[in-house]
Amino acid sequence: MKTSIPKITVKDKQLKFKPNISNYEAAYRDYNLNKLIKDNISLFPENKINAAYNAVDRQVLGPRKNKIAIYHLDQDLNEIKLTFFELYQLSNRFGNLLKSLGVGRGDRVFFFLPRIPELFYGFLGTLKIGAVAGTMFSAFGVQALIDRLADSAAKVVITNKELLPRIKDAKIHLPDLEKISVVEDFAPELSKFSDELHVSQMDMDDPAFMLYTSGTTGKPKGVVHTHRAIIQEHLTSNWVLDLKEDDTYWCTADPGWVTGIAYEILGSLSNGASTVVYSGRFDPTIWYKIVEKYQVSVWYTAPTAIRMLQAAGKQAIGKTDLSSLRHILSVGEPLNPEPLLWAKKTYGLVFHDTWWQTETGSIMIANFPCLPIKPGSMGYPVPGVTAAIVDDNGKPVKPMMEGNLAIKKGWPSMMKTIWRRPKKYESYFIDDWYISGDRAYMDYDSYFWFVGRADDVIKTAGERVGPFEVESALVAYPGVTEAGVIGKPDPIRGQIIKAFVTLNPEIKPSKALVVKLQEFVKKYLAGHAYPKEIEFVKSLPKTRSGKIMRRMLRAKELGLPIGDTSTLEEY
Ligand code: WTA
Repeated sequence: MKTSIPKITVKDKQLKFKPNISNYEAAYRDYNLNKLIKDNISLFPENKINAAYNAVDRQVLGPRKNKIAIYHLDQDLNEIKLTFFELYQLSNRFGNLLKSLGVGRGDRVFFFLPRIPELFYGFLGTLKIGAVAGTMFSAFGVQALIDRLADSAAKVVITNKELLPRIKDAKIHLPDLEKISVVEDFAPELSKFSDELHVSQMDMDDPAFMLYTSGTTGKPKGVVHTHRAIIQEHLTSNWVLDLKEDDTYWCTADPGWVTGIAYEILGSLSNGASTVVYSGRFDPTIWYKIVEKYQVSVWYTAPTAIRMLQAAGKQAIGKTDLSSLRHILSVGEPLNPEPLLWAKKTYGLVFHDTWWQTETGSIMIANFPCLPIKPGSMGYPVPGVTAAIVDDNGKPVKPMMEGNLAIKKGWPSMMKTIWRRPKKYESYFIDDWYISGDRAYMDYDSYFWFVGRADDVIKTAGERVGPFEVESALVAYPGVTEAGVIGKPDPIRGQIIKAFVTLNPEIKPSKALVVKLQEFVKKYLAGHAYPKEIEFVKSLPKTRSGKIMRRMLRAKELGLPIGDTSTLEEY
């Protein structure tokens, strides 16, 4: 039982620093948005704003001008350093390049790139001219690209030579795509564009970026975020990540994911943090080397990585000096107590779990440095956020009762809409509550505890994958008639993707076919979204209306009670 795990007090945490929030109750109670904006955010006249201006340009006007903004490292730890001034110049030049292509306010510019500097200054330059930036993982296959670029009607795609063929394959389905710009072609020419740019002064609610994310059914949906979101991204970087002037900060996320945008570009730079960006593969020894070499002090990562570090053991640390670390955090999946306690033993620090979603735009619930931690709990709502557990009618339930984790409408980084799907957007809300899709409970001390998803969304190694997309990919393979996809618990990755597949009678199940299907999904959909396990079955459980019952597949796989089968068609 979770409650039997001892609390980690603030004293146990052995804080070697004074947290930016030293009194949580007071910070929560005294939250005054107007005052916080005045003290932390640079606005233009008439309440206009630009998120990228806040992240970069304003630093250039002050003492941070020549401070390192980004240390970019590749797999071999080759380094590219960019100061805030250089980032300012590059993003300006890029903004001018976009303008020369006819990109204007509201146009969508999508990035299909690995984690290279061009992605960072390109993203910022896009926001600066008032266009809307979209990001896509470099692991995406052609169908995933079509889904995003067609739906958003993207005008420009920025990619590199290696990824270009996939965009070319997608192009025929993209009538709105006017220009594909390839890094290797434009980067050397960038100095031809002026490093001075008039930054667009945007309304608070003008869109700044959009990210496609998965639900239970249908295609991925475009979650739209506004320039206003920088406010809460800035504040939470300060309150939760606890960024300070002399920190070196390392967020291990990819900007294809919301964490990479909010806490590797916008909120962190807005706090003037020097940020490490590592574009290589996960490798415990390299990770530790980076911490040592760059004296990383604040580290934001995900449970799968933490469990992999734990599995690699102390020998991966060897003689590496990790004493620069002062505050470490986690996001994206449940952080079980075990790796958290292991970290305390190994690094002398505990991982502070944070909970949020693509739709929320910034951290909603977190373990604050100044508060005790109950290992396994997500912690407390951040100032400005009202969180609750509500029933299916939107009524708050009692402590210790499981229900829907919900957030009171209207926090500054709430998604603006779902791109061109207003009904979908509305479906998130019951009265004044945004319903997250997660099940959770609150204990008697008001700590929030994650229970699971209310729907079939899969979280594998922190990535959010929609079962429907994987099913669609599988049935696109000749000879596959139907597919049902679930998340199966996995000790390292949280969940792995498991597929149940039916075949045409002429086709024989085989190990070779499993590999072929996996390769197909990797190419068609995404490198990270393929089913690690595939089981061939004669038929799939379906409702009378023909919907595949993933709940039944899950129950069968895990040996759980099958539950209500009254709507089940015989199978
Ligand atoms: C899950 C990630 C447990 C959750 C920023 C949520 C978590 C989904 C946690 C959003 C956490 C995120 N503990 N589960 N601390 N943080 N999740 O949109 O199911 O990629 O709904 O955003 O991740 O995933 P997304």
